[in-house]
Amino acid sequence: MRTITLTVNAKSVTATVEPRMHLADFLRETLLLTGTHLGCEHGVCGACTLLVDGAPVRSCITYAAACEGADITTIEGLDDDEIAARLRWAFSHEHGLQCGYCTPGMLISARDVVLRMPQAEERDIRVAMSGNLCRCTGYAGIVRAISRVLEERRQGAAASPTNPRSALGPAGSGHAAPFAAAHAAHPTHEPEGRSARPDRRPLPGGVRNDALGASQTMLRESFTVDYPRERVWAYFARLGEVATCLPGTSVLGTPTEDRVEIHMRVRAGPIVAVFEGAADVARDAAAYTGIIRGAAHDTRSRSATRGEIRYILREEKAGAATRVDMELAFVLTGPLAQFSRSALLRDIARRMTAAFAHNLQARLAGELDAMHARTPSAAAELNAGSLFVSALWSRIKAFVLALVRR
Ligand code: FES
Ligand code: FES
Repeated sequence: MRTITLTVNAKSVTATVEPRMHLADFLRETLLLTGTHLGCEHGVCGACTLLVDGAPVRSCITYAAACEGADITTIEGLDDDEIAARLRWAFSHEHGLQCGYCTPGMLISARDVVLRMPQAEERDIRVAMSGNLCRCTGYAGIVRAISRVLEERRQGAAASPTNPRSALGPAGSGHAAPFAAAHAAHPTHEPEGRSARPDRRPLPGGVRNDALGASQTMLRESFTVDYPRERVWAYFARLGEVATCLPGTSVLGTPTEDRVEIHMRVRAGPIVAVFEGAADVARDAAAYTGIIRGAAHDTRSRSATRGEIRYILREEKAGAATRVDMELAFVLTGPLAQFSRSALLRDIARRMTAAFAHNLQARLAGELDAMHARTPSAAAELNAGSLFVSALWSRIKAFVLALVRR
């Protein structure tokens, strides 16, 4: 058993919980806050969505023990919230609910959309809400209700974002474990919106991609490999080999110098996604920058993604090493979109980058061997489900360490 102290709906709560009890059960069974509903209990349906440190989170896949010090807001805590009140009214008037089972989670996600995406159009709303499932309404009334509240606010004074989270997540960021760059290829991670390191110049063009709409997720990732920039730059031109440095990725057909088609397998909890798609690459040799634009879909989970990666290679260690700074902007749709606002997605991106950096370093070290290989082999697939356990364990470890240091 573990004793935790956290804030729930503005009240401090101390309780003893089983390490494996999830937050939704803790709220419903210990605190009797039954407004948080449980549907799938797999992080898929969104019924259990609530706010942790102001960001929407699936409480069925969040352990209560990991919420030490967190600020939790359930639907009961939004009784006096102005936007939640307008959304409740609009859901009622636009027939945005029937049985009401999905409604608490819908309202919490909708409130986040209203705060974060004041200019959202119908398509943006549908994408942003695609991680909340409703078995009754057909969604039309829900989308109309959110549009109505957004329109009201556009007519009034609140047409710019009022939520300090101008970028998404990470949820519970005040309690996230610091990323330990223990990998051989020294990956580092910097969530969008945090202050940049002093030597960090912005990439040309910035990270936001207007073509992706208001619901895009933006991330920054960096890693360093122990090879000179010219060598890394030359290797990046070999698209087939570079693509297969991504875990679970193999190349379809023969890549050209500016296009590669790939097959990528990712496991995220109960969902196994097998993405197939293509990426177009444009490089600027003078600036050591590149832009990768791609789209892929997964026929199994009916998820799809499209996005853009900008990268720049910078010299380090007096030219002996190269740091690769990347900015990613992408949109996920379908069942996997449920993860687009979660810390889990950032953990996946972080681990993907670490694995990519490790594989790239290994390929550079054995470059001659790789040149003689007929087909670069795909690195082992990434299991995001195990990453979730690992990320959670990291947070619990950080919490225990903080206690010990007190
Ligand atoms: S009950 Fe948590 S996402 Fe379905
Ligand atoms: S209103 Fe019944 S599940 Fe959405």
